[in-house]
Amino acid sequence: MNPWALRESATFDRTTIAAIQRAAETGIYDIRGWGAKRPLPHFDDLLFLGASMSRYPLEGYRERCATDVVLGDRHAKHPLHLDIPVTIAGMSFGALSGPAKEALGRGASEVGTSTTTGDGGMTPEERGQSKYLVYQYLPSRYGMNPDDLRKADAIEVVLGQGAKPGGGGMLLGHKISPRVAAMRTLPEGIDQRSACRHPDWTGPDDLTIKINELRELTDWEKPIYVKIGATRTYYDVKLAVHAGADVVVVDGMQGGTAATQEVFIEHVGIPTLAAVPEAVRALQELGVHRRVQLIVSGGIRTGADVAKALALGADAVAIGTAALIALGDNHPRYAAEYEKLGSAAGFFDDFQDGTDPAGISTQDPELAARFDPVEGGRRLANYLRVLTMEAQTIARACGKSHVCHLEPEDLVAVTIEAAAMARVPLAGTNWIPGT
Ligand SMILES: Cc1cc2nc3c(=O)[nH]c(=O)nc-3n(C[C@H](O)[C@H](O)[C@H](O)COP(=O)(O)O)c2cc1C
Repeated sequence: MNPWALRESATFDRTTIAAIQRAAETGIYDIRGWGAKRPLPHFDDLLFLGASMSRYPLEGYRERCATDVVLGDRHAKHPLHLDIPVTIAGMSFGALSGPAKEALGRGASEVGTSTTTGDGGMTPEERGQSKYLVYQYLPSRYGMNPDDLRKADAIEVVLGQGAKPGGGGMLLGHKISPRVAAMRTLPEGIDQRSACRHPDWTGPDDLTIKINELRELTDWEKPIYVKIGATRTYYDVKLAVHAGADVVVVDGMQGGTAATQEVFIEHVGIPTLAAVPEAVRALQELGVHRRVQLIVSGGIRTGADVAKALALGADAVAIGTAALIALGDNHPRYAAEYEKLGSAAGFFDDFQDGTDPAGISTQDPELAARFDPVEGGRRLANYLRVLTMEAQTIARACGKSHVCHLEPEDLVAVTIEAAAMARVPLAGTNWIPGT
C-alpha cells in the first residue's frame, strides 16, 4: 500500500464525499436525529481543581453533599423541589413511542426529578408515571390542550432548540400513527413540520403577554420556563427574564433532536460551553442569578458534565440523548438489526425513520412492544443515580457541601478556546483569554 496515494483530503474527507454522493443520488437533503457530531469545545475541555492545601475536601462516606434544587420560586405558588439537579428534557410523543415516554417518567420519578412532554402533547401514561411533569408549550401547538396545561407541574414555553435554533422540527409520515395523528388533530401518515415560531408573536413583548396568559390559566401555581436554543444567548436570556420567566432553559448546539436537516444540526447555534457563561452573565447583570434558575442542556453525558455546568453557574441540567441511551437506544443487543438498517449500535441516528430496533424512537406497534417501560425506567433511574453520585464526588473533592456550591473558581481549561468560552483560566496559568 502506498501511503502517499491513499492520503485523505482534510477538506474532502470520506464523510464529505459520501454526503456529496448521497445528495447527487437522491436530490434531497439529509434529515436525521441526534445532535451535532462535529468536534466542538465542550465540557471535556475543562478540569476541576480538587482541594489540596489551600482548599479543604469533604470526606466521601461521612460528610454530606446535598443535591436538591428548587426550580421556579420567583413567581409560582408551587415551585418544583427536585432531589437531584438532573432533569429529563422535552422529547415528543411521536418522535418517541408511548412506552418510551412512560419509561422516562418512571425513571425520573424514581430519583425525584422531573420529565418533560414535547411536541405533540401529553400522554396519560407519562402523566401517570411522572411525579413532576413539565408541559411544553410549543410553536406548533400540536397536542396543546388547556386541560393538560393544568395537569402539569410546570410549563415550558419553547422558543427554540439547540439542534435547530430558528428552525422547526419534522415528523415524517410513517411515524404519524392513528394515535399521534389524533393527538395532533392532523391526518395520519402525512409528513408534519413543526413551526419555527409561535403563530401569535412578533417579538419579545408578545412573550410577556403569553407568560401572563399561561399564569392566569393556571392560577399562578406553576413555574413558567422559557427554553431557547443557544445563539445570542446573553440577549435572549435577558429578554426571557424581562418577559417574566421563572426558569430559563438554554440548549446548546450539541443538543439532540428527533429529526432535523443535517446542515442545520451541524452549522447553526453555539456550543453549550459558550452559552452557559453568556446566560449567567445576563442573569447576574439583572441581579437574578439563582433567583431565576438556569437549566443547561446539550451534550450532558456524565456526572463531570453535570458538575461543570453547575460550576459555571447553572442550577440544573437536562438530558435527552443520554436518557435515550440509558433506556436502551443503540444497545449492542440489537447490533444485527442496526446493521440491516445500514448503521451500527452506537451510530444509529435515523430517529425520523421509525425503524428503531430498540422500540424507542418508533410508532411501529411491533417495535414499540419490544421495549419494556418498567425495565427502561429502572435503567434510567440507575443512570441518573450515577450522574448524581459522580457530581457529588467531584463537589466533595472541591470541598463543597452542595453540588450547586461548585463555582468557576473550581475550574481550569485545557484549551485556549475553552478558556475563552468558559471564562476560566488556561490550566497552569491565570490567563483567561479576552478578559
Ligand atoms: C428524540 C428527541 C426528541 C426531542 N423532542 C423535543 C421536543 O419535542 N421539544 C423540545 O423542545 N426539544 C426536543 N428535543 C430536544 C431536547 O429537549 C433537548 O433540548 C436535547 O435533547 C438536549 O441535548 P442532549 O440530547 O444532548 O441531552 C428532542 C430531543 C430528542 C433526542
